[in-house]
Amino acid sequence: MPYITTVITGATSGIGRETALALAKKDHAVYMLVRDVKKGELLRDEITGITKNSHVYVIECDLADMQSINSAANTLKSGLMAINVLINNAGGIFAQRQESKDGVELTLAVNHLGHFLLVQNLLPLLERGQARVINISSEAHRMGKPNFRDIQSTIAYSAFKAYAMSKLFNIYFARSLAIKYGPKGISSFALHPGVVNTSFGADLKGLGKILLWFMRPFMLSAEQGAQTSVYLATAPRIDAKSGNYFKNKHVVNPANIATKEKARDKLWDISMEMVGPFLQ
Ligand SMILES: NC(=O)c1ccc[n+]([C@@H]2O[C@H](COP(=O)([O-])OP(=O)(O)OC[C@H]3O[C@@H](n4cnc5c(N)ncnc54)[C@H](OP(=O)(O)O)[C@@H]3O)[C@@H](O)[C@H]2O)c1
Repeated sequence: MPYITTVITGATSGIGRETALALAKKDHAVYMLVRDVKKGELLRDEITGITKNSHVYVIECDLADMQSINSAANTLKSGLMAINVLINNAGGIFAQRQESKDGVELTLAVNHLGHFLLVQNLLPLLERGQARVINISSEAHRMGKPNFRDIQSTIAYSAFKAYAMSKLFNIYFARSLAIKYGPKGISSFALHPGVVNTSFGADLKGLGKILLWFMRPFMLSAEQGAQTSVYLATAPRIDAKSGNYFKNKHVVNPANIATKEKARDKLWDISMEMVGPFLQ
């Protein structure tokens, strides 16, 4: 019987898929939160076939829909006593400005706010599991500017700026969680997976698409891209490094802007306000 319970978002493709597979190989019970249940079930069958681990589960969760996030959190709460690892992996970059079901700019909704709500609603399970929360950020955070007056990019939308800001938010969120919930036994990390050949950027057009096409031969495989996530999910005694940003399984300094306490606290407050009506 597996004894580590891991929940992961965005397992149906790329880095998330390889992370789920690697952790199932290590006998974790893996709960995959997916927006496309058919795709999730095919993946579950594939992972179970490869690993013979029958504790791989699919739960519907569209991170662009707060009701869907709540229903996934309720399913987890009704079936589990504790979660030991939560990997906030799902993410995307969107060529045109779009909004989630709740009217939130899509990059912010999927890459940050959806995971923020998920964590808030799972806190009792995360505390009981003395969990590690792992946020997949990106080196793109270095280009991020926290524009709290226009957090939803309504004035001038740029796919890359919205993405970079959301990846900066992943680092703020990891650090805030480590500070606020470290005393309750939760640790939290952010990481850059490398530049990885996945479906990431499939929605891009023009120059972005061309750049990605040229870079593909030099990119890491998805399996290589999953390595730091797997490391943080499994390495013993890493709680002392909680709140940090990782690359290649090592702590590295994020951009200076990512260490700003005021901006970090502001993001927490704004996020709380935005998910407020959906907190359970
Ligand atoms: N690839 C890179 O070079 C790179 C570099 C730095 C950071 N990252 C980060 O790594 C993470 C994983 O990206 P990837 O490269 O593996 O990309 P990917 O292959 O495009 O996978 C993205 C995953 O997110 C899921 N997802 C997207 N929107 C969702 C939604 N609304 N609700 C639930 N799930 C949703 C996708 O589900 P579907 O299968 O249904 O589409 C898919 O499983 C992202 O956070 C990304 O920002 C990637």
